[in-house]
Formats: sequence, structure tokens, C-alpha cells
Amino acid sequence: MDLMEAIKTRRSVRRYKPTPVPESLRRDVLNAARFAPSACNAQPWRFVIARNEETKLKLAAASNGQKFIAQAPIVLVACGIPDDAFPTVGGYMSSHVIDVTIAVDHLTLAAQAAGLGTCWIASFKEDKVREILGIPQDVRVVALTPLGYPDETPERTPRKRIEELVVYDRYQ
Ligand SMILES: Cc1cc2nc3c(=O)[nH]c(=O)nc-3n(C[C@H](O)[C@H](O)[C@H](O)COP(=O)(O)O)c2cc1C
Repeated sequence: MDLMEAIKTRRSVRRYKPTPVPESLRRDVLNAARFAPSACNAQPWRFVIARNEETKLKLAAASNGQKFIAQAPIVLVACGIPDDAFPTVGGYMSSHVIDVTIAVDHLTLAAQAAGLGTCWIASFKEDKVREILGIPQDVRVVALTPLGYPDETPERTPRKRIEELVVYDRYQ
């Protein structure tokens, strides 16, 4: 699958088969995250892979009860490390959320190309996720995603037209 096809066909998957993800595919998608760019190449991230049923159920509960998360054989928790990140993007913000977000986007597209499903999860309670996984206070939880074989074919979701997104020469 070429890149544009992966971009266009990726969907948020909210039903998963219990089929395990082969080790080689798991490495492939993690490698896609590893190759992501980051400010000053700091790579201020760590990915926690939850495979244990009880842990996955707790993560689903910490994600405001989104039970489908625990259906997938793997739940990936993407963490950012502010102390390792570039502190002043645009003069005002740490790069860790941006860096981790790019890495997770690489991962979701690589998963799509490998026939796997993902779903970006931002509705979670960080303190609960920290407690479940033993994540220290100086590390921030940026996103979760289930990773597994889709058990649904989600509808295409609408997008704005390019003309609505782009302006030329001056913001308007
Ligand atoms: C930052 C972010 C947070 C999201 N949080 C959730 C979430 O907590 N639960 C969920 O089911 N989907 C979540 N989504 C998925 C979006 O609902 C989905 O990407 C959007 O509706 C477009 O659909 P598509 O991904 O199938 O193209 C999130 C997506 C993003 C980018």
C-alpha cells in the first residue's frame, strides 16, 4: 500500500478481533513511530504496550469507559517526556506533545498499511493511566490507541474541502 492510500483509507477502528498481532508486525509499526521527526531529534517519547487483559480493562475504564479499547490484543500508551523535549516551540510551548503526536500518526498509518486498526484515544484520565502503568510524574500521557485486526469496516468520515482550509499570502 502506498502512503497516500494508507492516509486515505485509515479509519478509527472501534471493534477488534481477538487475533494476536504477530511480533514482526508489532515491530514494524513501532519502527514507523521510531523514524518520526522530533524537535532537535530529541525523541522525547516512550511507548508502553499493554497486553495483559486486566491492565487493558483498567485502561479502558480510565478512558472514560470506552470498552472497545480492551478488545484489541494490544493497547499502546504513548508518553511524552517534557524534560527531554525542546522547551520553546514558537517561543511558547514544549515540543513533547507535537513529537509524540507525529510518532503516533506514523504508527497509525503503518498499522493501516499492515492491515491493522488503531483509534486515537484522547479521552482519558492521565492520573489514572499513570497509576495503572506506573508512569512517573515527570512523564506525560499524550495518547492511547488499541492495536489489532479490525472487526468492522468503518464508514468514511467527512473532511472539509481544501478551499476551506487554505488561505494564501495573508490569514483571513
Ligand atoms: C486528538 C484525538 C482524540 C480522539 N479521541 C478519541 C476518543 O477518545 N475516542 C474515540 O473513539 N475516538 C477518538 N478520536 C477519533 C476521532 O473521533 C476520529 O479520528 C474522527 O472522528 C475522524 O474519523 P476517522 O479517524 O475514522 O477518520 C480521537 C481523534 C483524535 C485526533
